[in-house]
Amino acid sequence: MVYTFQMLNIGRTRSQSRSNRSLPLGGMDYVDPKRKSSVGKILVAAALLAVFLLMMIKHSPTSSTSTHFSRREPGVTHVLVTGGAGYIGSHAALRLLKDSYRVTIVDNLSRGNLGAVRVLQGLFPEAGRLQFIYADLGDAKAVNKIFSENAFDAVMHFAAVAYVGESTLQPLRYYHNITSNTLVVLEAMAAHGVKTLIYSSTCATYGEPKKMPIVEETTQVPINPYGKAKKMAEDMILDFSKTTDMAVMILRYFNVIGSDPEGRLGEAPRPELREHGRISGACFDAARGIIPGLKVRGTDYNTTDGTCIRDYIDVTDLVDAHVKALQKAEPHKVGIYNVGTGKGRSVKEFVEACKKATGVEIKVEYLARRPGDYAEVYSDPTKIWLELNWTARYTDLQESLKMAWRWQKTHRNGYGPPGAIPS
Ligand SMILES: NC(=O)c1ccc[n+]([C@@H]2O[C@H](COP(=O)([O-])OP(=O)(O)OC[C@H]3O[C@@H](n4cnc5c(N)ncnc54)[C@H](O)[C@@H]3O)[C@@H](O)[C@H]2O)c1
Ligand SMILES: *[C@@H]1O[C@H](CO)[C@@H](O)[C@H](O)[C@H]1NC(C)=O
Ligand SMILES: *[C@@H]1O[C@H](CO)[C@@H](O)[C@H](O)[C@H]1NC(C)=O
Ligand SMILES: *[C@@H]1O[C@H](CO)[C@@H](O)[C@H](O)[C@H]1NC(C)=O
Ligand SMILES: *[C@@H]1O[C@H](CO)[C@@H](O)[C@H](O)[C@H]1NC(C)=O
Repeated sequence: MVYTFQMLNIGRTRSQSRSNRSLPLGGMDYVDPKRKSSVGKILVAAALLAVFLLMMIKHSPTSSTSTHFSRREPGVTHVLVTGGAGYIGSHAALRLLKDSYRVTIVDNLSRGNLGAVRVLQGLFPEAGRLQFIYADLGDAKAVNKIFSENAFDAVMHFAAVAYVGESTLQPLRYYHNITSNTLVVLEAMAAHGVKTLIYSSTCATYGEPKKMPIVEETTQVPINPYGKAKKMAEDMILDFSKTTDMAVMILRYFNVIGSDPEGRLGEAPRPELREHGRISGACFDAARGIIPGLKVRGTDYNTTDGTCIRDYIDVTDLVDAHVKALQKAEPHKVGIYNVGTGKGRSVKEFVEACKKATGVEIKVEYLARRPGDYAEVYSDPTKIWLELNWTARYTDLQESLKMAWRWQKTHRNGYGPPGAIPS
């Protein structure tokens, strides 16, 4: 098995400035409390993580030679889920396991949570269901070893860095961990004859189209390194697929929210990423009093209520789209699909839903527009409905947020520090 050990990148964390950042959330961000960068705490956390990982790996079933994962078994589809310790990847792994797939998660926990993997292992402890491999996708040798030791039928490639604001500040990190790592995965798939790929792409690849809603043929002109890195990865996949019999599905997600309706998994980004945060995270942080309130930037857009409009897709629907894509993937074919509800919601609507879902009278500050935000972004999901028989079902914003809030409330520290995870 492959275990790549690297210390946490402390320099990166420390160097993040605490200045007022207001990038990704379609006209919305939140007040950053004067958070002191505490290098000491990070060092302790890094040391704890290292120790815990060593312990975990020693006791992990994956360190014993497991034949289940290395051999093909009739009737069993073995899916490699990269980034399976992350928010969307963990929900996808849960769904795949529920549907009797065999799952291997590869993640280097740079952003994901071992706690999420632990939850999945607790739910599916039987041999041959789930294995977790700690490895860095940037390490081609490690990735090749994983592919040579395991018989994958398909890959769902979620692993990435995924914050628009951060991408403008650290573009190389994005080209590295999105574009270059996708190349590593593709090369390994080619070398080991794994032919089915479901790729996590994003509406950020479209940039700011003039015409709404966005269809799959809308010209892609990404405007930030995140969108560009994803577009480049798409291009590599498409070019390569033309020369092979690969079965490829590219899913372009809109704004993902929500969490497992049964409350087993949630969204738990690293605290240091909060400042780049996504809209739902900001809502929950405000409801918990971690931040003083929400800042809505721009109330004079040409929209129904003047605030920006986005398309929020529930993670349960999103992973359903992945399973349908996997089932319909065919050799020599590429499917590209928008995954959204097709319905735009304004930031004001979102804030109201957040207040109702959390029951907290969150403080909202309305400010001037910030540069770079566009008024409206929403999908036309007709193609995926016609071709994959998929449609969004969790379309009640308040309900999605309520489910997520339930998890957030009972997991004040996310999945908790590594040492505190129950095994
Ligand atoms: N969350 C959204 O709203 C959204 C929208 C559109 C697209 N996406 C895409 O969905 C995918 C998953 O996003 P998410 O929100 O779950 O993010 P996340 O940060 O929660 O999960 C990403 C996972 O990838 C892992 N990872 C990153 N680099 C790695 C590496 N080099 N080696 C091994 N593992 C690595 C991280 O540890 C983490 O567990 C990403 O590709 C993202 O671009 C997300
Ligand atoms: C995860 O992988 C990246 C390279 O993509 C590496 O720089 C980083 O240090 C790794 N993180 C951990 C915790 O191993
Ligand atoms: C991504 O790549 C950079 C190298 O450009 C590395 O320093 C970083 O740790 C990697 N991983 C993450 C999660 O950012
Ligand atoms: C505002 O939007 C409406 C309909 O979407 C459009 O007809 C109108 O021209 C827009 N106004 C401006 C000033 O852009
Ligand atoms: C489409 O999905 C619905 C609901 O999941 C299902 O009832 C129906 O049989 C599916 N139709 C086709 C053609 O697969």
